[in-house]
Amino acid sequence: MSLDQSEATGAAVTTTAVPATSTAPATRSWPGGTQKLRYGGDYNPEQWPRDTWLEDIALMQQTGINLVSIGIFSWALLEPRDGEFDFTFLDDIMDLLASAGIDVDLGTPTAAPPAWFWKKYPQARPVTREGVQLGHGSRGMASPSSPDYRRHAARITGELARRYAGHPALRLWHVHNEYGAPISECYSDASVVAFREWLGHRYGSLDAVNDAWGTTFWGQRYGSWEEIDAPRLSATVVNPAQRLDFKRFTSDSLLECYVLERDTIREYTPDLPVTTNFMATSCPSLDYWSWAREVDVVANDHYLTAERTDNHVLLALDADFTRSLAGGKPWMLMEHSTSAVNWQPRNIAKRPGEMTRNSLGHVARGADAVMFFQFRASRSGAEKFHSAMVPHQGTDSRIFREVTELGHLLGRSSAVRGSTVDARVAILWDQQSFWAQDLEWRPSEDLDHRERIEAWYTALWQRNVTVDFAHPEQDLGHYDLVLAPALYAVSAAARENLEAYVAEGGNFVVSFFSGIVDDHDAVPAGGHPGQLRAVLGLTVAEWLPLRRHETVTLDDGSSADIWAEDIELHGARTRTSYTSGPAEGQAAITVNTFGKGTAWYVSTRPTSGTLDALLGEALAATGIPDGPSTPGVETVTRTGDGVTFTFVLNHTDVDAPLPVGGSDLVSGRTVSAGELLAAGACAVIEKQEK
Ligand code: GLA
Repeated sequence: MSLDQSEATGAAVTTTAVPATSTAPATRSWPGGTQKLRYGGDYNPEQWPRDTWLEDIALMQQTGINLVSIGIFSWALLEPRDGEFDFTFLDDIMDLLASAGIDVDLGTPTAAPPAWFWKKYPQARPVTREGVQLGHGSRGMASPSSPDYRRHAARITGELARRYAGHPALRLWHVHNEYGAPISECYSDASVVAFREWLGHRYGSLDAVNDAWGTTFWGQRYGSWEEIDAPRLSATVVNPAQRLDFKRFTSDSLLECYVLERDTIREYTPDLPVTTNFMATSCPSLDYWSWAREVDVVANDHYLTAERTDNHVLLALDADFTRSLAGGKPWMLMEHSTSAVNWQPRNIAKRPGEMTRNSLGHVARGADAVMFFQFRASRSGAEKFHSAMVPHQGTDSRIFREVTELGHLLGRSSAVRGSTVDARVAILWDQQSFWAQDLEWRPSEDLDHRERIEAWYTALWQRNVTVDFAHPEQDLGHYDLVLAPALYAVSAAARENLEAYVAEGGNFVVSFFSGIVDDHDAVPAGGHPGQLRAVLGLTVAEWLPLRRHETVTLDDGSSADIWAEDIELHGARTRTSYTSGPAEGQAAITVNTFGKGTAWYVSTRPTSGTLDALLGEALAATGIPDGPSTPGVETVTRTGDGVTFTFVLNHTDVDAPLPVGGSDLVSGRTVSAGELLAAGACAVIEKQEK
């Protein structure tokens, strides 16, 4: 086979990560049918006798549930034999839900192909990097590039869409389930063929692939397309640019599966929104900036990292990222849990009030839907120890009472719907850069993009400054302050964009090990940080990774760890110097004037106090005020038409003063600023603008 650009086939989507505004018609931007916030969860009636369905539906009405996701894992019931369909159970439950006034988010069951499929098409099973072909018995485990899988997925999806088009309960389509989990990279034969085709689309010629991958290194040059393999496990480190492209290919091949189902659905229900559930900041294998363009409404699943005592801050980070994926438009919290999950090392139960705080935490940051996994706790199967809206104890339980109260609160909060969250600060988030940074043989194992992003985000969260996340190639003109806590790889387009942003008066703060490589994981000419050298006004002569537990001191009296640098200033000024360690006497934090703007550079990992002071300085320079501050009390505002909603979430165990007064949707009372909000409680304060 020879594969040049004209012959390459297959890839319907490509990894261009810059977010674009959706051109979807208005009817597709939200599940219609009610002006209320959406409330509900995954519902698996097939696990229960019909009598229980009737009880469930009555409970749904009692709790104010108005949307349930069904059918997500029902393929084996709906197509019991290849090409034989049986929709009896789904017809029945759809009709019952419709007559109860409960809308349906209909799942396509393609995350769990039936046993007959695996028996007939064993080659559709995914192969791991180590060469292991995975077996049947769980879910989410088809090779995304398998033509057999894609054909059967499209067929069952088409059958569903044809059958339920026009059904009064149907308001939203839920394609597949959590693409990328648990299967992402697949090393099957079909994947290798598809990878070659993807490369043909991306590069046009084999010479361009060889150049991009730097295959002269270690004698890896390819003379024909058939020689290219997936970057499977080898004797030592595999070509990093090849691995990076395989990650891009993986995200794109899963996205092709989504697009195939979505377009099949649209043939029958062109006016209904289609989505799939993201795992915003916790899915390492998908580049959601490109995925977000393809869904009609962004939907996210979020589970606390329960062990972490700051898990509410991570929740806020995840919600802010999801809102950013949605371009600021309302999004759906498609799944979270009423209490413990069943898949973490220690499954910590939520304490009274925590589930409500979590729910309102998402709403505060732009969610117009609060949904759970799942409605009724399973009695069998892998997830029987997962919490639910109706727990194993039944309705006479704290959890069910909280679920009911939350449903009623959301029911009287319809006015919140459609209001937006405005942020003047953006944190840059580039999944492709994270993929590149996470490859092997980096200068220190302490380099951790996620850790830096969390640290910088936390500093802003503590000041109650709301942030968006942004892609480095997107228009940043809206933001007064842009932060790059971890931006290892920077494309030429991103470099131009960031330089233009600062030159036009923007404020930019960058952390170490950013701007190091281009989008092929190659080092640009002229020394580090090649892609950000100009805007930062400096060169890094040498990286000075620190030893484990080693610290250095700075001239503000604080210490820092992990990393130091030997910086040569080319226009930047020293703000803070090293006073000990391998870079003693040299610049540690710098400031550069670039055009009309300012760029700060942080060459080490400072303490949270020093980081906070620096970000405080950058905020002050841009005129962005801090929010009200009581430690551990989160305050976020959504703005509607002539009205604001201030969400105040008291994550502490002491009462705390309310920062504003107005009409509180939670207590139903008029409250005044300074009045105490009970420990663990929430307020949503509605205020008409004058
Ligand atoms: C994911 C899945 C659900 C369920 C939950 C459990 O979000 O989408 O099907 O497995 O996890 O937490």
